[in-house]
Amino acid sequence: MMKGVLFDLDGVITDTAKFHFAAWSRLAKEELDVELPSSFETELKGVSRIDSMNRILKFANKTNDFSDDEVGIMAAKKNGVYLKEIEKLTSKDILPGIENLLDSLAANNVLLSVASASKNAPFILKKLGLFDRFDAIANPENVSNGKPAPDIFIEAAKQINVDPRECVGLEDAVAGVEAINASGAVSIGIGDAQELHEADTVVPVTSDLSFMLLDQTFGEYYK
Ligand code: G6P
Ligand code: MG
Repeated sequence: MMKGVLFDLDGVITDTAKFHFAAWSRLAKEELDVELPSSFETELKGVSRIDSMNRILKFANKTNDFSDDEVGIMAAKKNGVYLKEIEKLTSKDILPGIENLLDSLAANNVLLSVASASKNAPFILKKLGLFDRFDAIANPENVSNGKPAPDIFIEAAKQINVDPRECVGLEDAVAGVEAINASGAVSIGIGDAQELHEADTVVPVTSDLSFMLLDQTFGEYYK
């Protein structure tokens, strides 16, 4: 049986991608005078705050126009706008099936750890009323490489004292699935099967997740 489950946050536990995109779009318009195409909402999934900022600067053809300090200030400004939106989150914003999944995993003594690139993960989990349901939350400040590197999943497994190879990882982003696979954990993608084809299993929506599905997938793909 699997010993741990490593959860991505945005797009797996709650849907914050729309707030990230709205905040980045506003910043791009105000500071860089560009409109972000809607494809950026998917493109920025799982990508750290500073890497997202750099991708937007590249899109605006302004990579060399700002000092590191100025880039940091813009990223902080985006976060201020984003924080105002996520302040409104409640338990109603938990994605379907996630609370049941957490209950059944805990009932089976499976350890639960969060592997999100978001520095706002603890705040979001508190707003959702889920903070105490996890055994650990990996701190993205403690890892050197963002997804698709495996670092955050390795750190999340380490925080629950379990080898990543004894874990299942849950992700909605292509870079995240790649990161789970590189960590040695069994990967379950949530979303489009074609887009997430590198995952060991893909389900379309979070309500399809269950203890049984996770454990069976683990048994099948145990590496
Ligand atoms: C998640 C989201 C990304 C976001 C990143 C950093 O991975 O999918 O879109 O950029 O977290 O989030 P933060 O809350 O630290 O800015
Ligand atoms: Mg995600």
